[in-house]
Amino acid sequence: MSEPLVLGIETSCDETGVGIVRGSTLLADAIASSVEEHARFGGVVPEVASRAHLEAMRPTVGRALETAGVGLDDIDAIAVTAGPGLAGALLVGVAAAKAYALALDRPLYGVNHLSAHVAVDLLENGPLEEPCVALLVSGGHSSVLLVPQVGGEEVTELGATVDDAAGEAYDKVARLLGLPFPGGPPIDRLAREGDPAAIAFPRGLSGPHDPPFAFSFSGLKTAVARWVEGRRRAGEDVPVADVAASFQEAVVDVLTAKAVRAARERGVGHLLLGGGVAANSRLRALAAQRCAEAGLRLRVPRPGLCTDNGAMVAALGAQLVRHGASPSSLDIPADSALSIEDVLV
Ligand code: KG4
Ligand code: ZN
Repeated sequence: MSEPLVLGIETSCDETGVGIVRGSTLLADAIASSVEEHARFGGVVPEVASRAHLEAMRPTVGRALETAGVGLDDIDAIAVTAGPGLAGALLVGVAAAKAYALALDRPLYGVNHLSAHVAVDLLENGPLEEPCVALLVSGGHSSVLLVPQVGGEEVTELGATVDDAAGEAYDKVARLLGLPFPGGPPIDRLAREGDPAAIAFPRGLSGPHDPPFAFSFSGLKTAVARWVEGRRRAGEDVPVADVAASFQEAVVDVLTAKAVRAARERGVGHLLLGGGVAANSRLRALAAQRCAEAGLRLRVPRPGLCTDNGAMVAALGAQLVRHGASPSSLDIPADSALSIEDVLV
């Protein structure tokens, strides 16, 4: 029997993503983004995002089917992000997925967005030695996870941010530097022209008595704001590239140090990166360097699969089908605060 053909729907934030995979082969990854509609507000406006998902849903499903060269009838299962994320935005995807599941009489899998960020790696890098440690860094989360089986139903969080997520810190710092939203990509670009050692920004929760796998980025953001204000008050130019590079170095230094330490302490051979911030060029480079030094294998999908997309949801759905997980009920809620440890709803 051929592997299941799974349609995945993602609407937790501002991207309407529809992916189609067969087993762990990516067939289509269609995306419609409302990011430009939010740009002038400096952050995602939930109502605007929900409306955009509603309008983009059917055309995006259509594009994904066309790219994959399959019809709706060929789909064996529907997977959808059930949480965490923006309540109204999630609701659009969950309602659409239920409608497809009901109309086609196919099983529905309501999955965790964060586990989907981890599972997407299989599409690109193939089967992986398990358990593995995953560093998940997005606009809403920053966590170190112990994953017994990618696409299995269990995940253990070894540590997480106690305040801002890494992506949130990028977005806030970009804003105070006058860069566009979302802030990760422009800081990533600008940092290449700056000196990462120009300003010694703090490394949060990195003392010997701090929790080993917890993060804190809010103090860093404040330190950057104070430094920039000091310069402006003195009537001096702000060396934006140096600030970007030094801020970024503080973020990726802590992220990679803690993730590598977790993998070593847990005796696993692989470190996996996922989430929007995993698209960051410096994070990828420093993780590669530190993994090589620690004898670990680094797995990270291409940048386009790190940021939100539908393929990741389909990838996780396909693994759940493969491992014989029970489908979700058709009355599952969209759970904006879904725990990172709940893979399937
Ligand atoms: O995973 P994602 O697309 O959405 C959430 O689930 O939150 O992550 C979005 C976050 C944003 O904060 C964005 O600034 C950040 O990922 N991001 C980056 C880069 N590309 C996106 N951060 C740093 N460097 C990048 N190249
Ligand atoms: Zn995400």
